[in-house]
Amino acid sequence: MTTAIIGVGNLGGTVARHLVGGGESVVLAAKDEAHAKALADELGPHASAASVEDAIAGADVVVLATWLDQTRELVPARTRLFEDKVVVDPSNPIGFENGQMIRTLPEVESSGSVVAGLLPESAHYVKAFGTLGADQLATSANREPRVVLFYATDDDAAEATAQRLITAAGFEPLKVGGVSDAGRIEGPDGELQGRIFDLDEARATIATKGVKA
Ligand SMILES: NC(=O)c1ccc[n+]([C@@H]2O[C@H](COP(=O)([O-])OP(=O)(O)OC[C@H]3O[C@@H](n4cnc5c(N)ncnc54)[C@H](OP(=O)(O)O)[C@@H]3O)[C@@H](O)[C@H]2O)c1
Repeated sequence: MTTAIIGVGNLGGTVARHLVGGGESVVLAAKDEAHAKALADELGPHASAASVEDAIAGADVVVLATWLDQTRELVPARTRLFEDKVVVDPSNPIGFENGQMIRTLPEVESSGSVVAGLLPESAHYVKAFGTLGADQLATSANREPRVVLFYATDDDAAEATAQRLITAAGFEPLKVGGVSDAGRIEGPDGELQGRIFDLDEARATIATKGVKA
């Protein structure tokens, strides 16, 4: 199984490192292919670099580690490439204005619902890997007890993949619910985002908040 990671910045680069560390094979793509190649060279034989199109076409799973506005251009231009793929979306509805972090979608709308809506019907969508800041994600893999990474999906194949990749990356997977719950694990204001939990704490918090587990 190969995972394509589109975007090798703060978040995509961290996910790539963790997945390769857990024995997964990744193919990396970026706007500038040289950025993907530099990271692939650093990560060794389980990583390679390709164009965005080739990376998606050759992978079973695609992680869209791009900003929401970039994803909104990238996916519709290549919809057919996403047929039957598992698509992992770590995006948050976050932008910056005058150095201040702003929410880029109305409060009732999640980034997850937007990205899921861009994909063909045959794609298997899961919101995952965006719950922690990239620095938190980089430093909290393989702890004992393991740190929870939440995911949200309505799709069984996407759920199985999220569980496998989160585990390989060195974290404990925990479902918060379906795509309609994605906003709970998205920045800047989701109630479960940006928090380091072990499994017991995460389950207790989800139960308190009435989120489906
Ligand atoms: N940073 C965090 O702490 C964090 C935490 C949770 C979730 N997230 C989410 O993760 C996503 C990425 O954030 P980030 O901080 O990693 O951003 P970033 O550091 O700015 O990296 C963005 C990456 O996307 C690539 N890219 C941009 N347009 C592209 C295109 N058209 N085709 C292919 N690749 C393209 C860029 O390529 P180049 O390298 O060539 O410029 C770069 O590698 C965002 O949706 C964000 O909300 C981030």
